[in-house]
Amino acid sequence: MRRIAVINQKGGVGKTTTTANLGVALAVSGHRVLLIDLDPQAHLTLNLGVDPASNENTAYEVLTQSVTAGEAVLDVRENLQLIPGHNDLVSAEAQLVSAVGREVILRDALTPLGETHDFVLIDCPPALGNLSINALAAVEEVFIPLQPHFLALQGLAELLKTVSLVQVRVNPALRVSAVVMCLYELGTRLAGEVTEDVTRFLDTARGKDVPWSQARVLETVIRRNIKLAEAPGQGQTIFEYEPRSNGAQDYRRLADEVLSMGAPAEADGESEPEGSDKREKAAVSPVREAGSAPACDPIQLPDDAESPEPESISNIA
Ligand SMILES: Nc1ncnc2c1ncn2[C@@H]1O[C@H](COP(=O)(O)OP(=O)(O)O)[C@@H](O)[C@H]1O
Ligand SMILES: [Mg+2]
Repeated sequence: MRRIAVINQKGGVGKTTTTANLGVALAVSGHRVLLIDLDPQAHLTLNLGVDPASNENTAYEVLTQSVTAGEAVLDVRENLQLIPGHNDLVSAEAQLVSAVGREVILRDALTPLGETHDFVLIDCPPALGNLSINALAAVEEVFIPLQPHFLALQGLAELLKTVSLVQVRVNPALRVSAVVMCLYELGTRLAGEVTEDVTRFLDTARGKDVPWSQARVLETVIRRNIKLAEAPGQGQTIFEYEPRSNGAQDYRRLADEVLSMGAPAEADGESEPEGSDKREKAAVSPVREAGSAPACDPIQLPDDAESPEPESISNIA
């Protein structure tokens, strides 16, 4: 079983689209998939054609421990289940502040489900608050959808700091495995340069004791494709709405790549995961031509990213 948080504190970068369509692509290829909608906006739930208001048992009830995860699970497609989101998650964010063991409520709630799924994908809200920390505490892998944008790398540094704190204090198994470039404009200079800069930054972490030391920018990029934006309005995934579109093709490829890369190894820099040849090859960044300006400032990680000061996890939200 691979449990993956799809996270980026910036909104509109492709988290929900990726969670839904990667989830469906994995389900279509025969894997048992559970999707969890942790965003109060409940877009993942809507994207799958489920009315968030129609469910009594949602991620909110799971996090406030009034129902079990099993009681909140809906069958939404073949091989695909969903713990739906709800607007009430806004108040869960605040309610969790005073809950004992607040970082691990979701993790503990998922434990009784056992190994019934091959993949659990969690769609995170656009904030690094208690909901996202619960997601990071409940998974072993982090996928970061990134839109090639001038400020993308700054946001990435902040996100990695949070991942690092959760890994050190709550979830030692946590690893960033992939950055997925979304809303990608092929052929534009900015898209290429942001991709290069992220690749180069990740390369500098190889063998280091940080949770992103095995992360790589996936070879599959999700191109900007209007069909991907239209499909949610019909409550359909791209495979139902326009199975021959570039969007469907990209998410199919993404699923293949996710399957072929395998889960990251726990011991950084020592044992290599399956498919590491491909991983290493993909990690080699093209050298920027002399004199060309970087797309954005190089990533500056906060000083405490590698060995954070002992502060409360909730302070980083
Ligand atoms: N590759 C894409 N091409 C075109 N539109 C996209 C693409 N990916 C996402 N969108 C649209 O962009 C908006 C933001 O995407 P979404 O996945 O909801 O981002 P997030 O969950 O990070 O806020 C949505 O309207 C979505 O339909
Ligand atoms: Mg979203």
